[in-house]
Amino acid sequence: MRVTIFGASGLLGQALMDEWDGDAVTGLNTRDADIRDATRVQEVVRETRPEWIVLAAAYTDVDACESNPDLAFAVNRNGALNVARAAKELGARLLFLSSDYVFDGKKTTPYEIEEARNPQSVYGRTKAEAELKLLELMRECCIVRTSWLFGAGGKCFPDTILRLAASRPALDVVNDQRGCPTYAVDLARAIIQLCSKSADGIVHVTNAGNCTWFEFAQEIIENTGLATTVRPVTSQQMARPAPRPAYSVLSPTSLEAFGIEMPSWHDALRRYLERRKLSS
Ligand SMILES: NC(=O)c1ccc[n+]([C@@H]2O[C@H](COP(=O)([O-])OP(=O)(O)OC[C@H]3O[C@@H](n4cnc5c(N)ncnc54)[C@H](OP(=O)(O)O)[C@@H]3O)[C@@H](O)[C@H]2O)c1
Repeated sequence: MRVTIFGASGLLGQALMDEWDGDAVTGLNTRDADIRDATRVQEVVRETRPEWIVLAAAYTDVDACESNPDLAFAVNRNGALNVARAAKELGARLLFLSSDYVFDGKKTTPYEIEEARNPQSVYGRTKAEAELKLLELMRECCIVRTSWLFGAGGKCFPDTILRLAASRPALDVVNDQRGCPTYAVDLARAIIQLCSKSADGIVHVTNAGNCTWFEFAQEIIENTGLATTVRPVTSQQMARPAPRPAYSVLSPTSLEAFGIEMPSWHDALRRYLERRKLSS
């Protein structure tokens, strides 16, 4: 199978490039093809002639999206549409990465795929609008919503916590946002399986279980044996430009329908921290 990955230099993209065996995979970054450039996107898709396109490219700085909405929509919605049009022209299948931020976070039980989108941030709106436009253009498109990604080769929460913990005796971490941490390696493996199963429709893919950022930080510190204290605070105390959903746990039902089960986030975190220790 021929596969083309947009966003191959990102956190997920690198994991996809590492994990994808046995198929002919082409990885692209912004320099290879800026997804805002429809002509260039069409060219690379014609050149690489993929059976599957994985669209992991996005403007992912959630706070910066609030002050740069034009750029956010140009990349995350219009860019996605450029890729989808090129995929459709060539008859390639498309798997698009979306986010838990399409939901408003007002629920207290896991979000199923059919629940109403109600994004609260610019980033969330770009993803929600992209989803709708893609499904309109290509009904057989596969949309993978994920959340709280961590892993090697990008900005990630465990790295930030460990960097701060190295120089501070105590850290304040929000305890009123609950979600599902997701290891890029586990997400990559699930995406590869979804493509091999010709998946379509919306699928929620996260590690199993959920926690708050505070609980996540506590477990990172416990795993590494540091003496740093983690203190719970509210989102109001740690105000950020973009509003975050208070609860964005994604239900695994849609993934289980494909016979795929994800490891728990506790196990995923342990594996990531071990790998990080070995490579340092
Ligand atoms: N990170 C999370 O917590 C999270 C949560 C939910 C969903 N997601 C979604 O999962 C996907 C992967 O996220 P990630 O964390 O791996 O992203 P990331 O590390 O920020 O990487 C973004 C990738 O997109 C590429 N890119 C950015 N702008 C581009 C453009 N205009 N044209 C072409 N490529 C462009 C970057 O290429 P360069 O290196 O060349 O800039 C990079 O390869 C994204 O769709 C994201 O929205 C992420």
